[in-house]
Amino acid sequence: MASEKNGGSYRDMLGEILTKREYEEMVKGYDILGNIAILDIPKSLRKKEKKIADIIMKIHPSVKTVMAKAGAISGKLRIRGFRHVAGEKNKIATYRENNCVFKFDITRTFFSNRLSFERKRIVDLVKDKEKVLVLFSGVGPFSVEIAKAHPGCKVVGVELNKYASKAAEENVVLNKVTNVKCINADVRKATSKLKNSADRMIVPMPTASLGFLDEISVYAKKRAVVHLYSFGAAETVFADIADRLGKHAKANDYNIQIISKRVVGSYSSREIEVVIDYIIKK
Ligand SMILES: C[S@@+](CC[C@H](N)C(=O)[O-])C[C@H]1O[C@@H](n2cnc3c(N)ncnc32)[C@H](O)[C@@H]1O
Repeated sequence: MASEKNGGSYRDMLGEILTKREYEEMVKGYDILGNIAILDIPKSLRKKEKKIADIIMKIHPSVKTVMAKAGAISGKLRIRGFRHVAGEKNKIATYRENNCVFKFDITRTFFSNRLSFERKRIVDLVKDKEKVLVLFSGVGPFSVEIAKAHPGCKVVGVELNKYASKAAEENVVLNKVTNVKCINADVRKATSKLKNSADRMIVPMPTASLGFLDEISVYAKKRAVVHLYSFGAAETVFADIADRLGKHAKANDYNIQIISKRVVGSYSSREIEVVIDYIIKK
């Protein structure tokens, strides 16, 4: 949920318009992408969403538009629908994160501000002069943040969504970085150019990243660090991923060394998102 600048006043103000039961239903709250707030509102509270939106705009004067999530993230391009709830009818977010700014249409691409900690974590791990490959790069948050913090690095982002890839190119310009190349392509089809190219690879596609182990191993240099994001069952996810990575390495004649494991977020009591950092040694 977005931070509350006025020390819990969102909760206090919500308490004034919601019953105790409604208040408990409003658990997921909202996210703020710069000028746009995104409400996650249960059906039962739709009748009060405009009042909730007014409270958010009052607490956060920089929010000019409130949209509500309409459906789940779906499809290859990981896009979700939104409904306009209040304020200006604008779908373009201008969002600042880790010293960078990103502009994009929230209805045409995936974007999650909940990954900002991960992006900073990776930026801090990158070493100058590395060749960094961001697979599934979206509107460029990983690519641009790495490139800005490490001008000596060469960063390549690969993204299938034509709109997102174009927005990434614009975000490269917006952030005045010159060391990012955006490729609008399917990760599976970019093979020949990217072969043995990466010192470090970021794989932020938690629904499907384990289906791309062939590409990851082909794009890695003789030694490369990989940050792989995946969903899985809370009790077994780390062991399951380690098993898949180990089997793929053995079958394809390379070695792996897992260097860290971290829970990124939990989306239900059963499924969590994790990141595994590992080294490929060919
Ligand atoms: C979960 S999003 C991550 C986006 C971005 N890295 C971020 O953090 O905002 C996954 C992205 O992968 C893209 N994608 C899905 N399948 C792909 C493929 N086969 N090749 C390249 N990109 C793909 C989607 O369009 C989507 O933008």
